[in-house]
Amino acid sequence: MDKNMLIKELKNIKSMVDKEVARIKASVHAPEDLVDSSFHLILSGGKRVRPFILIKSAELFDVDISSSLPAAVAIELLHNFTLIHDDIMDKDEYRRGVKTTHIVYGEPVAIVAGDFLFSNVFSILARSYPSETAVKLINIYSYASNLICMGQTMDILPLKYIDSPETYLDMIYKKTGALIEASAVSGGVIGEASEEELEALRGYGGKIGVAFQIADDILGVIGKPEVTGKPVGSDIRNGKHTLLVLNAVEKMSGDDRILFDKVFGDVNADEDDVKKVIQLILDTGVIEEAKKKMESLYLSSLQSLNVFPASDAKNYLMEMARFIIYREL
Ligand code: IPE
Ligand code: IPE
Ligand code: MG
Ligand code: MG
Repeated sequence: MDKNMLIKELKNIKSMVDKEVARIKASVHAPEDLVDSSFHLILSGGKRVRPFILIKSAELFDVDISSSLPAAVAIELLHNFTLIHDDIMDKDEYRRGVKTTHIVYGEPVAIVAGDFLFSNVFSILARSYPSETAVKLINIYSYASNLICMGQTMDILPLKYIDSPETYLDMIYKKTGALIEASAVSGGVIGEASEEELEALRGYGGKIGVAFQIADDILGVIGKPEVTGKPVGSDIRNGKHTLLVLNAVEKMSGDDRILFDKVFGDVNADEDDVKKVIQLILDTGVIEEAKKKMESLYLSSLQSLNVFPASDAKNYLMEMARFIIYREL
């Protein structure tokens, strides 16, 4: 398995998911503004990492894509709901290279657009699976949603909740890791996995999910906006306590620390000052430290997959884990 094969399969899954999303959009009877705003972001791009993980986890148990696709679409809708609301909270104007939903439609409509996606998640699950499986999936999706709310609250109030690498890791597990974990576990549930197998999928998804957010935080500092489709420096302007920031401030003093304190958390900070702070962060070497943490999570996510015999699906999950930590978007 190499990266090209993964990218090809990711595209393949993306096109299946997107076709289904377009079909759902066309079948919805709702005010035009609600439909357009709800589907604006999801039809503007996105990697479809969570559907991929769900579908491949189900394939470990020989589940055909036709059976895992509804749950995969539902988890992507759930993800997009969190992004619409996240961009309101983070005051971000761009995602996937397009204007965010609240910028195009206004905050009130963007809030209901998110809610609309969220409620559709559960109706898709309820109508697509036998009741026993549906109940299990609904439980998993609502539990993950609960954790996301907790993680997002910690993220919004970093002064109160994020003061150490441990609290940061707990926060990102909740806001990001939990949904990636839910993707892997849901695939297992559809495949009628044993408890031991579900535990393995939980380990894989949870760990690579945490690594996913560390990668996102690194890209928020050193990513190329034309590739990521997201602005660089937004976490700094918003005063987010990422692992990078927590570790970097400890190594700053004198004028560097004064500049950092001036820019950090100032949404209107001068563009050049933000660039200088990014350089200060780079100079401390915290990116390398964060990459080490990410790589160790990556390795233990692979270890979790040891209980499964060799298969194409397992190779895809392993390659996806690699993609997640070495990605540029
Ligand atoms: C972005 O997720 C939000 C985070 C959890 C970091 P993705 O990086 O999966 O975003 P898309 O769906 O590919 O745009
Ligand atoms: C992503 O949070 C997690 C959720 C949306 C729940 P971030 O705010 O860190 O992610 P980006 O960088 O905006 O995608
Ligand atoms: Mg954000
Ligand atoms: Mg956020």
